Amino acid sequence: MRSPILAALLATASSAATIDWTAAYEKANASLAKLSLNDKVNIVSGVGWNKGPCVGNTAAVGSISYPQLCLQDGPLGVRFATGVNAFVPGIHAAATWDRALMRERGQFMAEETKGVGVHVLLGPVAGPLGKNPAGGRNWEGFGADPYLQGIAMAETIEGMQSVGVQANAKHYILNEQELNRETMSSNVDDRTLHELYLWPFADAVHSEVVSVMCSYNKINGTWACENPYVMDTILKKELGFQGYIMTDWNAQHSTSPAATAGLDMTMPGSDFNGGSVFWGSKLTQAVNSGEVPQSRLDDMVRRVLAAWYVLGQDSGYPATNLKASVQGTHKTNIRATARDGIVLLKNDDSILPLKKPAKLGLVGSAAVVNPQGMNSCTDQGCNTGALGMGWGSGTASYAYFSAPDAAIKTRAQADGTQISMSASDSTSAVGSAVNGADVAIVFITSDSGEGYITVENNAGDRNNLDPWHNGNELVKAVAAANENVIVVIHSVGPVILETILAQPSVKAIVWAGLPAQENGNALVDILYGDASPSGKLPYTIAKSASDYGIQVVSGNDDYKEGLYVDYRKFDRDEIEPRYEFGYGLSYTNFTYSDIFVDGRPNAGPATGDIISGGRADLWETIITVTVTVANTGAVQGAEVAQLYIGFPESAAAPPKQLRGFEKLALEPGASDIAAFNIRRRDVSIWDVAQKEWVVPEGTFTFSVGASSRDIRLSGTLDSV
Ligand code: NOJ
Repeated sequence: MRSPILAALLATASSAATIDWTAAYEKANASLAKLSLNDKVNIVSGVGWNKGPCVGNTAAVGSISYPQLCLQDGPLGVRFATGVNAFVPGIHAAATWDRALMRERGQFMAEETKGVGVHVLLGPVAGPLGKNPAGGRNWEGFGADPYLQGIAMAETIEGMQSVGVQANAKHYILNEQELNRETMSSNVDDRTLHELYLWPFADAVHSEVVSVMCSYNKINGTWACENPYVMDTILKKELGFQGYIMTDWNAQHSTSPAATAGLDMTMPGSDFNGGSVFWGSKLTQAVNSGEVPQSRLDDMVRRVLAAWYVLGQDSGYPATNLKASVQGTHKTNIRATARDGIVLLKNDDSILPLKKPAKLGLVGSAAVVNPQGMNSCTDQGCNTGALGMGWGSGTASYAYFSAPDAAIKTRAQADGTQISMSASDSTSAVGSAVNGADVAIVFITSDSGEGYITVENNAGDRNNLDPWHNGNELVKAVAAANENVIVVIHSVGPVILETILAQPSVKAIVWAGLPAQENGNALVDILYGDASPSGKLPYTIAKSASDYGIQVVSGNDDYKEGLYVDYRKFDRDEIEPRYEFGYGLSYTNFTYSDIFVDGRPNAGPATGDIISGGRADLWETIITVTVTVANTGAVQGAEVAQLYIGFPESAAAPPKQLRGFEKLALEPGASDIAAFNIRRRDVSIWDVAQKEWVVPEGTFTFSVGASSRDIRLSGTLDSV
C-alpha cells in the first residue's frame, strides 16, 4: 500500500553536506607548487608536545600564508580553554535521539572552537563503538549501535564544519578498551569490521569530515597508523575519503611503512610519553632516499591543505587564544540536551513528576558540586561530587556547574517544600535526611575515562558495572528508611540495577546519564514535569554483567562475538535485558498506527561511482516506511519511534538492527507521521568473498516501535 505522503518525503530526504573539494584541491595544488621539501614535511609533522598553544601544532608556512595549525581536544568542547562551555558528552547527546540537538551541539561547539582560534577540534568519536560495556571511553561516543553512532557523527560533523571548523573522526579503528590500547591487536573479520565498526566512519566521510585520527592499537596484527588496508584500501579508496589521516598522539611506529600505508600527518611530533619521532627530519631523509615517493608526500600535503581551504580557514580565521571568552548563549543547547537525554527507567505509582511534596530528603555525595571545586581534578580525573562527564583528554572545564541540590532547592522553594539532606554516601547518615520525608531522592554514580588516569582503582575501563561509592548499600539504606524512593543515576554506561530494583520502596529510577554543567537544572526539568522525559537508552542495561558476553581483555582481542554486540547478542541468545536498547518512559502515552512500507530492493550488489562515504548507490533511498504516532496521554511529550530491520535468513544477520529513528514532539491528543528513509546500505550486508555490499535475497521485516523490544507494528518486503 502506498502512503499518500511518500512523494513529499522522498523530496526532503536528507543529503550530505555540500562541500567543494574540487575548488579546494585546485587551491592546494597551486600552493603545493610553491613549497620546499622542508615546508612540506613541516605541514605534515607536529612541532612537538607542549611546543605550541594547542595539544597538536604544526609550523606556519609564510609563502602560502599558512598558519601554525592548532589541533585541540576534544569531543565535547575545547579542552584547556577558560572561556568555553562543557557540552554534554557524546553518549548523552545520543540518548536524546534528537538530530536537531546533535547538529546544534556540533555547531555551537565549533563556534566556540573558532572563537578561540582552534583549527581542528579533535572529535567526534565513533570508536569506541562501545562493544564492551566497561570500556573506559564509551561515553565519548554515541552508544552501542553503528546506525545511531553514524547519524550522530553525521549531524555533529555537519554542524561543526558549517561554521568552518575542521572536525576529526576518531579513533580509527577498533580501539574498544583502555587496557593495553597501545600494544594490543584487535583482530576482526571483514564483515564485522564493515557492518559495525566502519559504519559510523562511513557516515563521517559521507558528511565530508576533513580529518580522521588513526588509533593506538593494531588491527589484525598491523598498527592502525601504518595499516594499508584500513587507511588506504578502505578509508581512501572504498569510502572515497578526501581529507587527511593524523595519528593519535604517539600512535606512530615507523617512518616509511606509515607513509606508504596512507598516513598523512603525525602528532604531536616529539617524544611524547616516551615514544619516538618518526617524521620531521626522518621523513625528509626517507623522501630524499626514495623510500617514500615524493608523490606520496605531495598527496599528504595536498590533503592537509585542501581540508584547510575547503572550510575557508584561509580567510579571516581568528588567531589562537585559548583564553578568549566565547560562551555566547550556547548553554541553551546544553540544558536541552542534558534534559532530553535523561531516560526514565521506572515510575511506579506515577511518583514522578513530583507533586509539591511537603518534605523532600536528598541523599548522596553526587547531589552536590565537588567540594574542592567543579574543575579541581585534572582532566576531570575524579568522581567527587555530582558527575557531569567521564575523565581524560575528551573533557573540558565546566563554565559553571548546576548541582542537583542547588537546582532542587531553588525549585522547591516555589512549592514551599522543606528539604533535608545528607551530602555523603555514608549509610548511617541516611535516616536524619529521609525520615518523615514524603519522597527521598538518592544519587549514585559510575565513572570511567582514559587510561592515563586511574580513579578509585579504575584504570580507565571500569572494574565492574556496579554503582560506585557503595551505591547499592546507600540505596538499600534509603529504601529501608523511606517508602517513596527515587534513585537518580549519573553514569558513563550501563550499571547493574538488580539490588536497587529488589527494594520495594524504590518507586522510580531516573537515568540521568552525563549531563555536563546543566546537571541539576536538567534534572529539575524532569523531576518536576516541566518537560516529559524523552531520552531512550543508547545501550542495553543487563540483569548481569556476564549477559553482555564481552569483557576487557588483557592480551589481543579476537572479536569472537562478531556482529553480536549489545542488543544484537541479547536478541540472538534470547537473553532478557533489564532495560533494553532504545527503552525509555514518558509522562504521557503514545500509540502507533498505519504502517506503510514501500519500495523494492534489488538483490545483489549494485554499481555506483565512489563518492564521499563509498558507493553512491548505497546512499540512495530505496524504501520508505511511515507510521502514525499519537500522544494519547494528558501531557505534552516526545516519542522516539525506532525502525529495526530483520534481514532474510540467507543474510545470517542479527535478528534486528536499528536502521531509522525519528523523534516527534506531540501535544496531548495530537498525532504525526514518523517517516523512515531506508537507503540501499541499510538493507545490505558486507559480502566477504565479493568484497562488496550486497542486498541479500529474501524477505525483509521492517519493525517500528518504542524500543528494540517494544515493537508496535511491522511490515515485510521481498528483495527481487
Ligand atoms: C590521546 C587520545 O586518545 C586522543 O583522543 C586525544 O585527542 C589525544 N590524546 C590528544 O590529547
